[in-house]
Amino acid sequence: MADENPLKPFYSVLILAFVCSALVAGAAVGLRPMQEINRILDQKKHILYAAGLFDSSKSIEEMFAPIQTRIIDLATGHFVPKDVIDPATFNQTKSAFTTELGRSLTTEEDIAKLKRLEKYSVVYLVKKNGTTEQVILPVRGKGLWSTMYAYVALAADMSTIKGVSFYEHGETPGLGGEIENKRWQDSWREKRIYSDTDKIALTFAKGDSSASGEAALHEIDGLSGATLTTKGVDNLMEFWFGDHGFKPFITTMKKENSNG
Ligand SMILES: Cc1cc2nc3c(=O)[nH]c(=O)nc-3n(C[C@H](O)[C@H](O)[C@H](O)COP(=O)(O)O)c2cc1C
Repeated sequence: MADENPLKPFYSVLILAFVCSALVAGAAVGLRPMQEINRILDQKKHILYAAGLFDSSKSIEEMFAPIQTRIIDLATGHFVPKDVIDPATFNQTKSAFTTELGRSLTTEEDIAKLKRLEKYSVVYLVKKNGTTEQVILPVRGKGLWSTMYAYVALAADMSTIKGVSFYEHGETPGLGGEIENKRWQDSWREKRIYSDTDKIALTFAKGDSSASGEAALHEIDGLSGATLTTKGVDNLMEFWFGDHGFKPFITTMKKENSNG
């Protein structure tokens, strides 16, 4: 009987391991475009939720039809032409970490704990018969454990909240994770970010709000057992609706809307 090569089982295992890893790597690469399509669809869903335009009987593309995706310069508040920055390929959060499209924030500026801020931001305009009915803005900031990402939809007055959708975070489920709770998000509707003198007036109560009258227009319930996450939400709203965030753009839009 011929002698069996003692290394044969080892070679078999090696070949099997190689074939399996090639299959896994191939599947990961092959699935990437599909994952990207699903990520974009999911983001659109959250933008629609924020604007109160989500309707499960319609396709995402159908619901998204009246929404224009534009790029703005945060510092000037002006729109940026598509040939300068294409919204279809622009990665906003990554751009903050590049030298040409981002900058470091000073400790004093950085109330949302972002470390760096991008030069340009994407914004979504809900159009009806040529007029802008709503503007949906992407915001983010640190909670207790993680960076929280959300969309905030504003009415044409650029102060009244039409809705909010927190779509990504790493806060604790049942505590800070309640930022995903639709009932809490619904309680943001019709609250006003700015006072009559254009100062940020939005506040978050500790637990349920007991404010009445004018104060109730600006106060949102805090998440019970999650004061630190709520504080993070408060900070991110203060940052993004302040001078280093969307305030210049909000001023531009208010002028545009008042000119008809
Ligand atoms: C395991 C663990 C996870 C927690 N996760 C959160 C959280 O995601 N967000 C938060 O604000 N507080 C969280 N807390 C609670 C905070 O430490 C803190 O007690 C809380 O924010 C205080 O809120 P309260 O004043 O409403 O009770 C967590 C606590 C523990 C022990």
